[in-house]
Amino acid sequence: MTSNWAEAFYEMQYRSLKQTGEITEYEMNFAKDLRMQVGRPLGSVLELGAWDGRLARTLAGDAETITTVELIPEMVAVAKRHSTSNITPLCGDFYDIEISSTFNTVLYMDGFGVGEDEDQLALLERIRNWFDDDGTAIIDIYNPTHWIKADGQSMRPDSVNFPKVERQYGYDYKKNKMVDTWWHTDKPQDSVSQYLKCYTPEQIHALCQKAELDIIAYFPNGAMDYNAWRYKDIASLEECMSYRIKIKKN
Ligand SMILES: C[S@@+](CC[C@H](N)C(=O)[O-])C[C@H]1O[C@@H](n2cnc3c(N)ncnc32)[C@H](O)[C@@H]1O
Repeated sequence: MTSNWAEAFYEMQYRSLKQTGEITEYEMNFAKDLRMQVGRPLGSVLELGAWDGRLARTLAGDAETITTVELIPEMVAVAKRHSTSNITPLCGDFYDIEISSTFNTVLYMDGFGVGEDEDQLALLERIRNWFDDDGTAIIDIYNPTHWIKADGQSMRPDSVNFPKVERQYGYDYKKNKMVDTWWHTDKPQDSVSQYLKCYTPEQIHALCQKAELDIIAYFPNGAMDYNAWRYKDIASLEECMSYRIKIKKN
């Protein structure tokens, strides 16, 4: 299932930030946290929703192999241009791409929640089938408590380099989805949005159980304080924007 908004949104987001696959200190720190959270050698890795492959490239020295899956051809082209020999970038939809190998580690950073509960369940079941016997996955889950507070907040994602790109957060209370709308100030009528389903730790636990997966750790990410307009790197599981779950077959 490819959601009808995903291609337009992520393509616009990528083009707006004019990214070219560069690895920054952000990716280095991100990779350091991930290695610690995985807690053992990465082995063979499958990364879903891999953007332009920058995280894969940051982790390449620590993994035997990395296979990445990304929907947007433009990002996959950048990933292919910069890949090391142990990275295989695939262009496709993680809901239906055929991958017959199994992996020690599956990663899906920032983006889980496209579609409805049955889509998330289907993806969790696919992830389970991609596991080796000792397979674990790390997945970022959006936290509803935070996104309800973010409802109505507007900002420029990068006011220095791209002052004409604006963004507004909303919340769909019926479907428990965060809504993230981007537009260019000179073309506000061409706005695009992403809609990501948010889950409390209890709700994602119940969904994982349905997919015969156990959550063996929760790692809160940071939180934006909208009153002080400041991002805090350290936040509780209650207040964080998203948290990581570490899962394995039960
Ligand atoms: C919010 S971005 C996160 C990118 C990257 N993982 C990160 O942490 O910066 C979500 C990514 O998932 C990709 N994506 C969304 N739906 C997808 C699908 N059905 N199959 C493959 N990739 C998908 C998007 O194109 C985008 O690159």
